Amino acid sequence: MSITSITLLSRDEITALLDQADAHLDAIRLGKKTAPALEGKIVLNGFFEDSTRTRVSFETAALRLGAKVINFSAAASSLKKGETFDDTLKTLAMMHPDAFVVRAGEDDMPERAKAFMPCPVLNAGNGTKEHPTQALLDALVLRRHFGKLDGLKIAICGDIRHSRVAGSNILLLQKFGADIRLVGPEILLPSPQAGIRQFTEMDDGIAGADAVMMLRIQKERLQQNLEMSDADYFKHYGLTQQRLRHAAEHAVVLHPGPMNRGVEIAGDVADDEHRSLILQQVEAGVAVRMACLEHVLHHHMREAA
Ligand code: NCD
Repeated sequence: MSITSITLLSRDEITALLDQADAHLDAIRLGKKTAPALEGKIVLNGFFEDSTRTRVSFETAALRLGAKVINFSAAASSLKKGETFDDTLKTLAMMHPDAFVVRAGEDDMPERAKAFMPCPVLNAGNGTKEHPTQALLDALVLRRHFGKLDGLKIAICGDIRHSRVAGSNILLLQKFGADIRLVGPEILLPSPQAGIRQFTEMDDGIAGADAVMMLRIQKERLQQNLEMSDADYFKHYGLTQQRLRHAAEHAVVLHPGPMNRGVEIAGDVADDEHRSLILQQVEAGVAVRMACLEHVLHHHMREAA
């Protein structure tokens, strides 16, 4: 079994993953040692695109479970010498890793990896499509904060069209009956979808929201010029303290990182210890990836037995 898309996980499976991640997060916070459930396993991190949080988080998760980790970075690889993606994947497959974590700008990379790899594949972000472990960690943070996901009003704001974080979050939150609103300039909104309201004005879009999820403009993926300076974008779509007053009084703020302070989010909102769950998202990421690695590897071992 692989985790390449939220669509492959049922509501019950997601709940089980979040329960397991919850336990891991409590243990990490208490400084408890985790049983080395993945001792002797090798996790290969295949990063064809830049990353800070996701790569280090998968690595930490694997190490906490007693696995060993190899980090492959495209920037320092033979791709630079003209090798194709498929030849690179076939080569990595022959190292016989026990799990393959893959991030790439190409939408179909997780599926291609699945075709070549002898082991489970975990999608760490594919192009503009999905980032399932990010949605799971966001769900964990929201569930821990609100005690539930059902019925939460969640405003996802910014470059939704090109965001794989939004892609996976929409799929997951829909499964749990959250009230999702998408907010951004017209050209950064996706095609309309039944049951999901879209807004081009921030104040309207975040009105009464329990959680406001901010996203970076994916400048590397824009096909059209945004025709808006960073300062203009901030003026219309940046989350400031003043604007946040339109959300519910108890509203919290999320951001998957990397943040562009002063573009999509004001520095004092990002650092607001009463509102911002941004660092808790990073912390939850390790626990969620531990649960995901255990889940796919235990499944794989049971199938092989
Ligand atoms: C995001 C990504 O790479 O998809 N970051 C992350 O993994 N936490 C978001 C982004 O790049 O804007």
